[in-house]
Amino acid sequence: MATGRTPTNIAVIKYWGKRDEALILPVNDSISVTLDPDHLSATTTVAVSPSFPSDRMWLNGKEISLSGGRFQSCLREIRRRAREFEDEKKGIKIKKEDWEKLHVHIASYNNFPTAAGLASSAAGLACLVFTLGKLMNVKEDYGELSSIARQGSGSACRSIYGGFVKWCMGKKDDGSDSIAVQLADETHWNDLVIIIAVVSSKQKETSSTSGMRDSVETSPLLQYRAQTVVPSRVLKMEEAIKNQDFESFAKLTCADSNQFHAVCLDTTPPIFYMNDTSHRIISLVEKWNHSEGTPQVAYTFDAGPNAVLIARNRKTAALLLQKLLYCFPPQDRDLSSYLVGDKSILGDAGL
Ligand code: ADP
Ligand code: DP6
Ligand code: CO
Repeated sequence: MATGRTPTNIAVIKYWGKRDEALILPVNDSISVTLDPDHLSATTTVAVSPSFPSDRMWLNGKEISLSGGRFQSCLREIRRRAREFEDEKKGIKIKKEDWEKLHVHIASYNNFPTAAGLASSAAGLACLVFTLGKLMNVKEDYGELSSIARQGSGSACRSIYGGFVKWCMGKKDDGSDSIAVQLADETHWNDLVIIIAVVSSKQKETSSTSGMRDSVETSPLLQYRAQTVVPSRVLKMEEAIKNQDFESFAKLTCADSNQFHAVCLDTTPPIFYMNDTSHRIISLVEKWNHSEGTPQVAYTFDAGPNAVLIARNRKTAALLLQKLLYCFPPQDRDLSSYLVGDKSILGDAGL
C-alpha cells in the first residue's frame, strides 16, 4: 500500500483546447502556480493484493469507474515502468512481470470541492500517477511522471512541481516534448498570498474536457487566442514572475482569465462557468485596483464560478479579506467560504 498527497495548481495563463484528444496535447503553452497542499490537495492511497479480482477506485468515498481512457493510460504507463519490489522483513517479493497481473484498489479524497473549477483533476490525476509510481517502485524522473500525468488530465502535468510551472505545448506528434517545467520553486516570490473565494462547491455542468472540446470545434476566438495572443503573453508572464513584477503579473493574469471566459462565451452552445457572484468579485477587484492606480490583487477563474485571488502581499490580503467579508458576508448563501493560504507557507497567512 502507498499513500501520496499532491496539491492543485491554478493557471495564470490558461490551457483551453487540445490538438490531440488521446495524448492530451494542448493548443498553447500555459503557466500556473502550485498551491499549498494543506488547503487544496488530493490524498490518494493505492493498495495491491493478489485477492483483488479487478482494478477499482473510490473518489471521496464513492466508487467511480476506471474504464475511461485517461485512467487506463495512467495505469498502463506506470505498470510498464514498474520494478521489482522486495521487503525481506515482511517476506514480500513482487517481480517486475507480477505487476501486470496484480490489481489495485485506489481511494482518493480531495480537501476542496471536486469538479467545481478548482482544478481537482490536476491534483487528483497527478496524485494518482505519483502514488502508483511509489507503490510500483517506479524510478522515473519528474519529467516522465509529468508526461504520464498529462495523459490523465492536461493540467495535472503541472502539479508534479511546486512553485511556478510552465507546460510547454511541444511540437512533436507523439507528445514526448509536451511536458511541464518548473520556472521557479516554491520559495520564489513569497510575498504573494492566495485567497480562494468558494462561490459554489457544486459540481459544474460542463466538465473541462467536454467544454474545451466544444470550444475547439466551434470558437473562432480560440484559434486566434492560441496562435496570436498566448505566445507573447507567456513570454511576458515568465519575465513578470522572474522579476516579481506584480503590476505586469496581475494585468496578464486578469486579461488571460477574461479571455478564456470569452472563448467559453464564443463557443456554440455558449458555456457559462462564472455566475453573478463571480462578476461582482471581478468588479470589486477592478475598482480597487483602479482607485489605487496600481494593481493590488489579481483574479483568475478556472472552469467554474470560484475566484482565485492573488494579493501582492499579506497587508493587501488582509484588506482584501475585509472587503470580501463586507461585500459577501458569510451568511450570504451564495459565497460559502474562504480558503486562505500562502503559496508556500502551509496554512499560515497570518490573518
Ligand atoms: P476540475 O475543475 O475540478 O478540475 P474537471 O472537470 O477538470 O474539474 O475534472 C473533474 C474530474 O476529475 C472528476 O470528475 C474526476 O473524474 C477527476 N478527479 C477529481 N479529483 C480526483 C481525484 N482525487 N482522483 C482521481 N480523479 C479525480
Ligand atoms: C480552465 O486539465 O481539467 O483549468 O485535460 O481535459 O482533463 P483535461 O482538462 P483540465 O483543463 C483545465 C482547464 C483550466 C485551465 C488550466 O488549468 O490551465
Ligand atoms: Co480539471
